[in-house]
Amino acid sequence: MRFIETWTSATLLATRDLTPGIREFLLRPDGFAGAPYPVGSHIDVGVTIAGQPERRSYSLVGEVDPQGYRIAVRRAPDSRGGSHYMWSLAPAARLSITLPASLVQLDWTRRQFCLIAGGIGITPIVGAAQALARRDAGVTLHYAVRARSDAAYLDVLEDLLGDRLIVHAGDEGSRLDLDSVFAALPPETMTLFCGPMRMLDAARRAWEASGRPMPDLRYETFGSSGLLPTEAFRVRLKGEGIEFVVPRDRSLLDVLNEAGHEVMSDCRRGECGVCALDVVGVDGEIDHRDVFFSDHQKQESRKICACVSRARGTITVDTLHRADAL
Ligand code: FES
Repeated sequence: MRFIETWTSATLLATRDLTPGIREFLLRPDGFAGAPYPVGSHIDVGVTIAGQPERRSYSLVGEVDPQGYRIAVRRAPDSRGGSHYMWSLAPAARLSITLPASLVQLDWTRRQFCLIAGGIGITPIVGAAQALARRDAGVTLHYAVRARSDAAYLDVLEDLLGDRLIVHAGDEGSRLDLDSVFAALPPETMTLFCGPMRMLDAARRAWEASGRPMPDLRYETFGSSGLLPTEAFRVRLKGEGIEFVVPRDRSLLDVLNEAGHEVMSDCRRGECGVCALDVVGVDGEIDHRDVFFSDHQKQESRKICACVSRARGTITVDTLHRADAL
């Protein structure tokens, strides 16, 4: 494993509805000492979906809290089951969680930062905004939501950032124009983005078009967001005459591993590429939900990240010839 994981037991201390569709969960691990964690940290939570043990990653909200870890979960009709499970929990529930880990690295020597959040993507951004405000860095947050009533943590962010918080609420006719935002940034601005895949694709294109160095755009995504609706699809194994159904609440990786095909994995968030499989046929369409492959590689669809990516129709993969990263 690339990431060292430590699982621990935790108690759900409290829940709080932030918006009609977003609920905050306060989790306290056994023996919690309140150690600080880096900006952009997430924890994995053990969930039960269709009677099967699974895991879901959630960003920690805000900087360290003496009471425990805060996560926020959007009740997603398109969910593969994780949000449904989380919303079924009541205070005092016992859970298994991992200790915080962060894949986001910010260059703290910069003086100018731009934060961009789409919907529930605000969760890792809250802690970043707190850390940057504390450092007195130049920071602006663009927060895109369908409706202002969908925007979680507005009160916290307004207190923190004042007029440096810009809410783009669809119901108010305000649309986030990434080209304009990036064009207006001072040189050497570092941007941290978290939002759905379609928005990330747009952000990457706009950032590239602005001529800024790609490493200056850092991002977090949520593995369940794709371009197509989450639905069951079929997978055939090359040369084996076997076909499986990947239900809407299971991943391709889960289904193949449960069938004994031992597909390797690491991050399970579409970031490392370890689970990539060769695709030898597509009768339908692949919904690439990873951030590992380039746009060009996704268009070619010769490989698929089994942990997060899905399909419509039937795909044929070769589990014996695993992709060689890039
Ligand atoms: S396990 Fe890392 S991309 Fe799938």
